[in-house]
Amino acid sequence: MRRVLLLILPTLIIIGAGLTVFGLLEARSVRERLMDDLERKARTVAESIALSAGDVLSISDVEAANRLVESFQKRERVQGCVIYDRAARVVAVTERISDWQGKAKPYLEEVLVSATPRGGLERFQEYSWYSYVLPVFDGGNNIIGLVEVVYDTSYLFDTLAEVWRRISVALIILTSLIVLALLTVERRTYALPVRQLTAWFRGFQKGEEDIVSPVRAKGDFGQLVSEVEQVALSLRVARRAAVEEAHERLQQEELWTEAKLRDLVQARLGENALFVVSNREPYIHIADESGGVRCVRPASGVVTAMDPILQACGGTWIAHGSGNADRKYVNSKNKLGVPPDDNRYILKRVWLTKDEEEGYYYGFANEGLWPLCHVTHTRPVFREGDWEKYKRANQKFAQSVLEELPARNPLVFIQDYHFTLLPRMIKRERPDATVGLFWHIPWPNPEVFAICPYQLEILDGLLACDLVGFHLQFHCNNFLDTVNRLMESRVDTEKFSIVRANQETFVRTFPISIDACSGAEEAEDEERRIQRARRELRLENKIVAVGVDRVDYTKGIAERILAVDRFLEKYPQYKGRFVLLQLGAPSRTHLKRYHELAAEIDELVQEKNWKHSEEDWQPIVYLNRHFSPAEIRAYYMMGDLCIVSSLHDGMNLVAKEYVAAKQGRPGMLILSRFTGASRELVDAVSINPYSIEEFADAIKYSIEMPVEEKKARMEKMRQVVSENNVYRWAGGLIAELTTIQKAKEL
Ligand code: F6P
Repeated sequence: MRRVLLLILPTLIIIGAGLTVFGLLEARSVRERLMDDLERKARTVAESIALSAGDVLSISDVEAANRLVESFQKRERVQGCVIYDRAARVVAVTERISDWQGKAKPYLEEVLVSATPRGGLERFQEYSWYSYVLPVFDGGNNIIGLVEVVYDTSYLFDTLAEVWRRISVALIILTSLIVLALLTVERRTYALPVRQLTAWFRGFQKGEEDIVSPVRAKGDFGQLVSEVEQVALSLRVARRAAVEEAHERLQQEELWTEAKLRDLVQARLGENALFVVSNREPYIHIADESGGVRCVRPASGVVTAMDPILQACGGTWIAHGSGNADRKYVNSKNKLGVPPDDNRYILKRVWLTKDEEEGYYYGFANEGLWPLCHVTHTRPVFREGDWEKYKRANQKFAQSVLEELPARNPLVFIQDYHFTLLPRMIKRERPDATVGLFWHIPWPNPEVFAICPYQLEILDGLLACDLVGFHLQFHCNNFLDTVNRLMESRVDTEKFSIVRANQETFVRTFPISIDACSGAEEAEDEERRIQRARRELRLENKIVAVGVDRVDYTKGIAERILAVDRFLEKYPQYKGRFVLLQLGAPSRTHLKRYHELAAEIDELVQEKNWKHSEEDWQPIVYLNRHFSPAEIRAYYMMGDLCIVSSLHDGMNLVAKEYVAAKQGRPGMLILSRFTGASRELVDAVSINPYSIEEFADAIKYSIEMPVEEKKARMEKMRQVVSENNVYRWAGGLIAELTTIQKAKEL
């Protein structure tokens, strides 16, 4: 539009200026012609009157003078005539303009003095009149009076208005024709070829076959087309070669690594890159009060797991742009390359209004589904308004995903409880898509799930998936039971799938994990970081138990503090020697329940520190802020113990991160048996966080465990985590999804 305006506006300005000048000249010439004409007519009439007026004036016959002026008033457009004597006094005036006598007429004196006729426009009674004055002579050539003829000039202005009207019509017609011609030329030579080239290149990116552009152009534009074709060709060749290499390498490697996953994705998906959807984005741009912007990695299990996958394989991650400076960092399609300093994949941000975020994320997802799925005795809240916004937000994400999908057989991998309706929305538009969803939190039993007023819509949405993944077999069983009880469908317990309306949904376990090798810095840097933290927090020579959590009521942070309190009561020999270093990343603080929890934890920390503190020692150091992965890693490394006391947790990656970070250093993990991680990390010290007594004893037991036993247990757990790493998790999921995809193609 801007381009078209730039083309048309100057043309219009030039045409407009040209026609205005032409109009002014034309109007002036018409006016001059009309005035000449008027003067000629007036002169003829005045001369006719003057012939008789000479006699009338010489004998001062007023009656004859009156007859004379009345007889001339019927001439074309003549308003009236006046006869004056030599002193410019009125002798006779046409009845119709009798008021004319009262008008001041200095020009009469001029005519008497100069003895020459005079014509001109005069204003009278708000109108414009034309007056022509002729001197009347006697036989001796002396002026004996004057004759004045007065004309109505309104027709003159009507004629000029008509001239302007004609010029305007010509201007409009001419302008329209020129604009039309310009638009046609612009469309044919620019807009159409650019649109064709864009459509072709977009199609090419989505995997459509044609490698020759349909646009045939010459000159500069032709050169651009040819360059774009070359880029497309090189891309196509590079992608093909990468797929073949990946196939070969895949046969050779055994342990799941970043490279093996990359090969799997290349070999199985080829040009059809990975599309991941989650609510939480992996990189958030946050502006602080001083105007600076920080790029933050949020405290989120989904981010911890998915970021290394996308970094390894590339692809597009579509997520809610929740940072207050996020909009500054995206391109015209709301995309940016991440990580910011080493772009490995594309992050596409979806914008939600405050109202949508409130209803969809805070309301339905986190006040409804989150407490519904976690056994923590927090009552779920379901509001109709939240549900409406949840549907709307899912629709927004669907739109954003659909815009990106390649032409054929795309693969979409959706994360978590925020998007139960998204699979159906995608499948409705793209039945050829293979859609997988991983449920990162527990799935409750059918009785609990049936509390949800929107249970059928949610199950219907999820059953549009080809694959639904859970951490544990127990959650898979709950899901199958739920569908079996609440929906008309066929549950196949052999294949572990659900068939409904010609769609088969496979249900599988994929215990999520971490990249066990990531985050390591130079050993010296790490040691320096650890020593600094110890000094700053006065942890030198202390037994440090670390806790790393989002401040969430599912994490059992209050129970952990109560257990430390009981431990110190029961085993006072550890006073002055033991410290719980609790990192709490603020989370969902906008919700009342989370707000209250934060206050409850603050209060408990103060109370127990007051109760037990001695000299400069306090048993609990609580750091309530956001931490970078490198900072957290230093705390893990200094932790003699790590306490994970979730009341209910799908997996809990903190437990795995601690085990991986210790790298052979002595340490011990105290792990709630209500976490998914406890099924794999069987060498941890297992606790029931609700049993404060057992919990307190577990702390003592872990501290006093012989170093050799600690080392052996930690080593076994390290092995589990490095084998069952996040690449294996993603590899399993993607392999399963692509197998389903292949089967559908047959
Ligand atoms: O799996 C649950 C989850 O979505 C994880 O990504 C993470 O542990 C947590 O919830 C993050 O919560 P939020 O994205 O609401 O901060």
